Amino acid sequence: MTKYVLTGATGGLGSQALLFLLHLVPASDIVVSLHNPAGASPTIVSSGVEVRKGDYADPASLRTAFAGADKLFLVSYPSIAHELRVRMHKNAIDAAHAAGIKHIYYTSLAFGFGAQRALVPPGEQESVAEVMQAHLDTEAYLKQSGLTYTIIREGIYSESYPLYFGYWSASEGTDEVVVPHGDGAIAWVSRPDLGDGTARIIVAESGYENRTLLLSGTRVVTLSALASTVSALLNRPVHLKVVSEDEYVAAHTGRPGPRGEAGFLRKWATTYRALGRGECAVADPTLREILGREPTPFEETVREMLGVGAEGAVDRYAR
Ligand SMILES: *[C@@H]1O[C@H](CO)[C@@H](O)[C@H](O)[C@H]1NC(C)=O
Repeated sequence: MTKYVLTGATGGLGSQALLFLLHLVPASDIVVSLHNPAGASPTIVSSGVEVRKGDYADPASLRTAFAGADKLFLVSYPSIAHELRVRMHKNAIDAAHAAGIKHIYYTSLAFGFGAQRALVPPGEQESVAEVMQAHLDTEAYLKQSGLTYTIIREGIYSESYPLYFGYWSASEGTDEVVVPHGDGAIAWVSRPDLGDGTARIIVAESGYENRTLLLSGTRVVTLSALASTVSALLNRPVHLKVVSEDEYVAAHTGRPGPRGEAGFLRKWATTYRALGRGECAVADPTLREILGREPTPFEETVREMLGVGAEGAVDRYAR
């Protein structure tokens, strides 16, 4: 019997991975590590998995949470604060080592895969996206940890499209999507598909040891193509307006929450620089092969979100 411990199981991706994992292995083989066990979702509570307290900032709690497990599913700490994130991830990797975990599955992000596919010229920085830097550092730390690892570079969630689409929201009524650095292309992928694929990778007995995988959609869609899709769905013109970084920051400063702060916006602007280099424009067949079916088309998720309101995604990720 293999025992699994999952972090981040209340989050967007982690909750999906847990749902699909519950189809593949008995709940009694799963432990969920949460910094606040009282905040466990109804799904977690009713599933029958064991819940333990594990706080990324408290190594002792992580060792206790991971004790007795064979495989750790390590979901990245939700923030774009580089050093803080890396520290949290190192705590978890060290605790996994101490607790005798045999295999760590780490959720990295799709930025930079273009470099491995020669979309980015050799010798240049793998990723210029601020949000990717903590992942790259964590990947490096994991690779030299001595533990067996699988790095899963999760594709850009279809559900998070407003973050990459100038925080555009149908309810605000504007027809302009203001972004810097041109018209990036993304191999969007839905979160349930990522959860499904990720769960299958975690339960596989072999085949993924010491590998870095990219799970992305099978089609690449540019931001201007997304604008056309949205226009067609809403039957009103929505278009992309490409501006300088300064203009981007000025246009969005003062919006509610962290995404209205100039410091955050400066960092987030690097995301568009990365998209412009083709960092997320890799449509990889791996996920389709693992799922044995076509992933959900991006347009389908966008349509659903426009039906129910897209506001949630920005608040969830822009932290
Ligand atoms: C993966 O790599 C680590 C460190 O390089 C090594 O200790 C481990 O045995 C490898 N795992 C497998 C299954 O080859």
